[in-house]
Amino acid sequence: MFIRPRRLRLNPIIRDLVAEMDLRPRHLIQPYFVHPGSGSSNIESLPGIARTGIDETCRQVEADLKLGLKSILLFGVPDTKSPMAEHSHDPEGVIPMAVRELKKRFRQDLLVMTDVCLCAYTDHGHCGVVEDGEIKNDESVAILAEMALVHAQAGADIVAPSDMMDGRVAAMRARLDDEGFQNVSILSYAIKHSGAYYGPFRDAAGSSPKFGDRRTYQMDPRNAREGLKDALLDLEEGADILMVKPGIHNLDLVWRLRELCLSPIATYHVSSEYSAVKAADRLGWVNGDQLMLEQLISLRRAGSDMIVTYAGREALQKQWIS
Ligand code: PBG
Ligand code: ZN
Repeated sequence: MFIRPRRLRLNPIIRDLVAEMDLRPRHLIQPYFVHPGSGSSNIESLPGIARTGIDETCRQVEADLKLGLKSILLFGVPDTKSPMAEHSHDPEGVIPMAVRELKKRFRQDLLVMTDVCLCAYTDHGHCGVVEDGEIKNDESVAILAEMALVHAQAGADIVAPSDMMDGRVAAMRARLDDEGFQNVSILSYAIKHSGAYYGPFRDAAGSSPKFGDRRTYQMDPRNAREGLKDALLDLEEGADILMVKPGIHNLDLVWRLRELCLSPIATYHVSSEYSAVKAADRLGWVNGDQLMLEQLISLRRAGSDMIVTYAGREALQKQWIS
């Protein structure tokens, strides 16, 4: 007698019967780049994704809801930048205006998350404010907390700080609670490595640093423990959901974080992870559709409860999943 594992792979029904996990529309979060103008403009390095004005964003969201995509993550592409990023917490800024409009139109049918970071709002492109070439932590945190509050006041369900300053989750939680926004959740980018993976995103958001790099605040990709430690710190500070990013390249960290804590884990299938598949597909070197789906599945299998991905809409349009 010898053991035959292939018996459980004989046909689609038995394979489905023994499948250990699923990827469903409810797991996907679709990113949006919202600009103050009208219409939309394509992002060359992020095929299939566009920057959209508020009207166009609403139209696209309506279509996404019909497909079954109910969670979105908004990034602002403002036209006003300044050293202190004042526009980041302007109630008449592009994100608060977009959130108010979306919530008016779609109410509880749509879950609205907003990115909280300064890089698209500073003229130097860093995620915090700069003094004498140094990215100042506590000064930045005060502005970020204000930004989170303004998003909450506009109606955001979840605020998602991606700046990587120390203590920002605690500061945001306190500011939100003080102002009566106890029900607004915080999804923190808990483990976020620095490096080349965010290139197409920075094209889209116009948020590349004008000098230096992000290595004094984003994490060193050589480190695993550092990220896990900071993730647990975010939990202590009051984060509701922890995000790991880039997702595909940190499956080890998703897995280890899953074993370390009981909170929901999100992963960000980041711009380069997405665009690299698209580029190789265009060259005819890979089956992009299948590869993209396999990436998303691996994120789920590693322990990710939800996935931010540019491929969300396509996954439903092309019925990779249902
Ligand atoms: C802003 C932010 C970035 C991403 C999410 N929020 C870029 C960066 O840190 O430079 C990257 C997402 C992606 O590459 O898809 N801090
Ligand atoms: Zn940033």
